[in-house]
Amino acid sequence: MVPDIKKPYGKQTERRLSDLQEYFSGKKVVNEMLGQDDPIIYKVFEYPVPNEGEHLIYATTILLPGKVKDEFYFTKGHFHNKPGGAEIIIGIEGSGSVLLQNREGEFRYEEVKINSVVYSPPGWAHRAVNTSKKDFVFLSICRADVGHDYEIIISNGFAKRVVEREKKVCLIN
Ligand code: F6R
Ligand code: ZN
Repeated sequence: MVPDIKKPYGKQTERRLSDLQEYFSGKKVVNEMLGQDDPIIYKVFEYPVPNEGEHLIYATTILLPGKVKDEFYFTKGHFHNKPGGAEIIIGIEGSGSVLLQNREGEFRYEEVKINSVVYSPPGWAHRAVNTSKKDFVFLSICRADVGHDYEIIISNGFAKRVVEREKKVCLIN
């Protein structure tokens, strides 16, 4: 069956605030929020393919709108283990941005709208951010055997955080 990339398909993963506690900067606010509720931050629908290099993984992420204190909701973000682990990210609904950075400290910020295409080169980590008030939906495509490395991001984060200041989207260190 051919999946509709805006609707659930394949393997589904839900990420809630409790899964992202270590990633947000406002730890006190995270704890206060978790005392009330454990909101879904994003859902990923991944088309099942064999975990081998000749195949391509494609996955739709629905990143919900919201903030922790002033920091917009984001995906965990990761490097790919394989040196050839480039990725294409295509905006399919709503808007947001993608943070890109490599191990040499270079950083890029790409705004994403419907039909925007972002290229995450080999060796670059990527994180999506929903800077809007609606769902931000995007498709990611990469080799099936790239592997995902979250460890450096958990310890060091990204070079910039995306926050709202005086109703504007701002990048801070
Ligand atoms: C695949 C990819 C995306 C993300 C998804 C969730 O390589 O980059 O499908 O896996 O957007 O983000 P993470 O994996 O950072 O929680
Ligand atoms: Zn990826």
